Amino acid sequence: MNTTAPSESATEKSYTPSAEVIANAHVDAAKYDKMYAASVNDPDAFWGEQGKRIDWIKPYTQVKDVDFNLGSVKINWFADGTLNVSANCIDRHLETRGDQTAIIFEPDDPNEAAQHISYSELHRRTCRMANILESMGVGKGDRVIIYLPMIPEAAYAMLACARIGAIHSIVFAGFSPDALAARINGSDAKVVITADEAPRGGRKTALKSNADAALLHCKDSVKCLVVKRTGGQTTWVDGRDFDYNAMALEADDYSKPAEMNAEDPLFVLYTSGSTGQPKGVVHSTGGYLVYAALTHELVFDYHDGDVYWCTADVGWVTGHSYIVYGPLANGATTLMFEGVPTYPDASRFWQVCDKHKVNQFYTAPTALRALMGQGNEWVEKCDLSSLRILGTVGEPINPEAWNWYNDIVGKGRCPIVDTWWQTETGGHMMTPLPGAHALKPGSAQKPFFGVHPVVLDPQSGEEIEGNDVEGVLAIKDSWPGQMRTVWGDHDRFEKTYFSDYKGYYFSGDGCRRDADGDYWITGRVDDVINVSGHRMGTAEVESALVAHPKVAEAAVVGYPHDIKGQGIYCYVTLMNGVESSDELTKELRTWVRTEIGPIASPDVIQWAPGLPKTRSGKIMRRILRKIAENDYGSLGDTSTLADPSVVDDLIANRAG
Ligand code: WTA
Repeated sequence: MNTTAPSESATEKSYTPSAEVIANAHVDAAKYDKMYAASVNDPDAFWGEQGKRIDWIKPYTQVKDVDFNLGSVKINWFADGTLNVSANCIDRHLETRGDQTAIIFEPDDPNEAAQHISYSELHRRTCRMANILESMGVGKGDRVIIYLPMIPEAAYAMLACARIGAIHSIVFAGFSPDALAARINGSDAKVVITADEAPRGGRKTALKSNADAALLHCKDSVKCLVVKRTGGQTTWVDGRDFDYNAMALEADDYSKPAEMNAEDPLFVLYTSGSTGQPKGVVHSTGGYLVYAALTHELVFDYHDGDVYWCTADVGWVTGHSYIVYGPLANGATTLMFEGVPTYPDASRFWQVCDKHKVNQFYTAPTALRALMGQGNEWVEKCDLSSLRILGTVGEPINPEAWNWYNDIVGKGRCPIVDTWWQTETGGHMMTPLPGAHALKPGSAQKPFFGVHPVVLDPQSGEEIEGNDVEGVLAIKDSWPGQMRTVWGDHDRFEKTYFSDYKGYYFSGDGCRRDADGDYWITGRVDDVINVSGHRMGTAEVESALVAHPKVAEAAVVGYPHDIKGQGIYCYVTLMNGVESSDELTKELRTWVRTEIGPIASPDVIQWAPGLPKTRSGKIMRRILRKIAENDYGSLGDTSTLADPSVVDDLIANRAG
């Protein structure tokens, strides 16, 4: 029986959660309204209470101490409290759930045995890693780079750093040696933790040789701790390289958690902005953990005993907050997957869900669209009855992918939480809650507790009141998970986020608040195009294109157009087995005109067998814009793409 029933709300079709979902949920509609009002009306009282969900060594007496004014930006939460994140994620669970599985590790190769790591085992492993790091000279406040595959050692390394008060900075294993070197140097790290090789999709990346290449550009004092994953050959530099597996055999099983201030940095994570080199986003210890834990529990409606799976990589913020810190602070069972959605075939995600009886599944729209293009049979041959909640993150989800997720994966039973947030925000900012909101495909809908979104007029910077309005998205007041600064460059932090719109945190995204007061993210404002004086979200055109049954994926950018100012350039990937033709070009043009309106009519449609994506699955629009602009000289660095050769193909077949 279908338990989520579609109904028409004021503006869009919406899906009301079933009575069963509502009855089981931590938060229903009435509770959401009450808690939300309390959270924004009296943040000190609200967060003062929520802060108690984690263990403090010295309890805080202050809650919020924040200034969003350019020139004096400061963000402090629970500032006089002390705690240890590793103790919160492990030690405090030992008495009640020492034997419970903390981490399920599912390797790249489905024939390799999965591992179930209990909280006691996690404690032992983390303590040993902490002792190894200390023996290598790492102490409080020192930086450690983690460049590892999606293996349990990545979690041990994060928690070991947190345990001794070192600041970790994870570099996604898909990054090149140059990118790695920049981050080692940028954070002035003492140690790099890596592995011999990273298996992914049946292939292996030589991580240690990448690290070797990177370390040629770093200070001689930087040491390298090497985890054995495949046993593949590595070159060894005596005195610099340390053998994790050998040292772990000798290391002590206990390490005392360091007493950290709530505002001490927990980690630095490099992320790209619209200008300049990637910046080091700094997150705190106390506020970050409170926020990651609370959002994980309420947004995924996590209950004791559930098996939770987030398919992100720990190299991205989603992996930090929603594979490691949030779930483990809550004593959850969290699944770490080393592989990719399509290896050995397109049913891998669903097979893993069945194998481990996953209850909450959290992934990115791009993965869903790719899998949707492969056909329903890959999903339908799996059972998937364990699934209860589905989630998405990373980009606006088009209604077609949403519907496919809802109908084919969730069988109409599982609420979908479309979570809007950013590396900078530390945790979810806007999302429906499973038992509280009727879902609208493609909308992030409601602010999380304590989040005060505002829609600003991009020109005047004034708040736009009322509903059925559109503008840029800013946040009016702080929340505990907010980034504190840019590593080594507080000025850049202030300029990037607090200078365009005075007194607000500016998200860089555009958004719409519909007639019901629900929020729709329209994409980065740098992706907004202006066609004949009409402002348009490229996501809108993409959504229209992928609604066509023959289209698997589409990316749309603006390009200079003599008459219109900007024209609409569309890269279109067709469904498997569909042939491109001039007829189809015309058909798609007409389709988009009818879906959105004549102003959205594509000027150029280029067939794209593949789109340039980062290894985390984000489409690199910058490259697509350059190709659309016929400007190949300044494509920039394409080495971080999952498949750099797609760029050559797009250039060779450029349309128009
Ligand atoms: C986009 C990922 C629409 C947005 C956690 C944001 C989204 C950027 C959504 C941050 C969503 C993320 N709907 N857009 N549910 N989630 N975004 O730092 O443009 O990798 O600014 O953090 O992704 O990306 P980041």
